[in-house]
Amino acid sequence: ALAHAVPGRIGMACAHANVALVKYWGKRDERLHIPWASSISMTLGNYWTTTRFTTLANPSCRVFLLDGQPAPAAAARRVAHVISVLRERYGLPTNSENSGYFLESWNHVPVSSGFASSASGFAALAGAFADASGLKNIGHRELSRLARLGSGSASRSIDGGFVEWHAGTTDTSSYAEPLNKHPTVNLRMMSVMISNTRKEISSTEGMRRCARSPYFSVWIRQCEDACRQMRQAIAKNDIRTIGSIAEDNARQMHAMTLCAGFTYFTPGTLAITQLIEQLRADGLECFWTCDAGANPKILVDASNENQVAAAIAERFPQARCKSSGFGPGIAIGHD
Ligand code: PMV
Repeated sequence: ALAHAVPGRIGMACAHANVALVKYWGKRDERLHIPWASSISMTLGNYWTTTRFTTLANPSCRVFLLDGQPAPAAAARRVAHVISVLRERYGLPTNSENSGYFLESWNHVPVSSGFASSASGFAALAGAFADASGLKNIGHRELSRLARLGSGSASRSIDGGFVEWHAGTTDTSSYAEPLNKHPTVNLRMMSVMISNTRKEISSTEGMRRCARSPYFSVWIRQCEDACRQMRQAIAKNDIRTIGSIAEDNARQMHAMTLCAGFTYFTPGTLAITQLIEQLRADGLECFWTCDAGANPKILVDASNENQVAAAIAERFPQARCKSSGFGPGIAIGHD
């Protein structure tokens, strides 16, 4: 079918991955991915997704290549759905002329890095879609809202540095914006790969289960407090406070999952978090966080990074560490 597809417009974008320091965990609106609480993240320099979106005249021709291979069926379905939502938003009917597409994504976020690629992936998709659709004057606020429709955390991958996603209550009021695009603080985020097993409970399902927990309302209140404190700590370049707010917030999220009857932790996750706490008690400043998976992430001042990595390697020779500093906001177009 591709041989007969007439290419239309081409859009390109490159967006970086992010890791939340104050987590998004709970949807007020599952369709629009509106969260119950605001969240704050760090955009990562070493990990990104580049996406090229080519519209095709033939509406039935829809191709999604991931790293040069046809994407797995579930990923292709999810992306097709997001593209139809984006088209609808701009009054581009789904079965009209040029509603087919040839989508190519290159993930510079190896599965083996322990960082997720869905945030950078859906942010890059939003940018490439906007570029191909000729949405010339689209600002970061609107791009962040578009990225959010793919995946909540993607809303934070439109900007670089430290980013806050304002929960809002509606599609227009729920978007991310930079807190500090070019942080001077020497913060690094290290992932510790201890497990390759796929997560069993998707973030959507995990959030749903936690929303039924009696601790959920406490969690949401804590997140709003944590955001307030985190903003101040970021403004002061205070790594110790940034790290301890992030670690407390992650601990609260994962404690809540346990109370809701599941956990993303494996014995290895717990062992690493305990090691980090021990290193800190021994005077080496480092903090952990963890998302919807077993591989913890460590926040550390660049000057302590080698020591922390060495301590992890000594205790867990099979663990693999990858780290990154801050990354930039989205780049759109061919430059
Ligand atoms: O964007 P989602 O739906 O994959 O959810 C992300 C959830 C966490 O990574 C655990 C937290 C966050 O804020 O990124």
